[in-house]
Amino acid sequence: MKNWQKIFKNGEIEVISAAEMQALGRALAAGLEGGEVIGLVGDLGAGKTHLAQGIMEGLGASDPAASPTFSLVHEHTDGRLAVAHFDFYRMKSADEALGMGWDEYLQNGAVLLVEWADRFDGALMPEDTHWLVLRHTGENTRSVRLCS
Ligand SMILES: Nc1ncnc2c1ncn2[C@@H]1O[C@H](COP(=O)(O)OP(=O)(O)O)[C@@H](O)[C@H]1O
Ligand SMILES: [Mg+2]
Repeated sequence: MKNWQKIFKNGEIEVISAAEMQALGRALAAGLEGGEVIGLVGDLGAGKTHLAQGIMEGLGASDPAASPTFSLVHEHTDGRLAVAHFDFYRMKSADEALGMGWDEYLQNGAVLLVEWADRFDGALMPEDTHWLVLRHTGENTRSVRLCS
């Protein structure tokens, strides 16, 4: 993930459109090697899904727009690296995540993209999680910060 340091070298990134958020995701994808856990944090509409979709696109997933909103997790195994996209928003408890095999996902070598990763006080997230914190800065602008 060497290129992540380069991308975030000035701290917070200002992203001026939804398309640019996806482009940032594609750039971040280039540095992934497999097994990384990425926590996406920010309010509704902050751009977590756009960023996740860009990362999945960059990894070569054929259906990056498939959403985990109703299924809690969506797996993509046809790209350069396997990636599992989670959304904890609708999860009622950490136990629900454990019941769907969260521990296995942590060990199977896939890149894990987790929206609302800070739910349940972040208790489900491993220590080496890469946290991306998104913020509204205007109608069409967002900031993204890496807090590793
Ligand atoms: N700079 C930007 N980056 C990301 N999304 C943006 C931006 N500007 C406007 N948007 C809009 O904000 C919304 C972000 O939605 P989404 O990615 O689903 O956010 P989240 O998953 O955090 O709720 C979309 O409607 C998108 O078109
Ligand atoms: Mg979302």
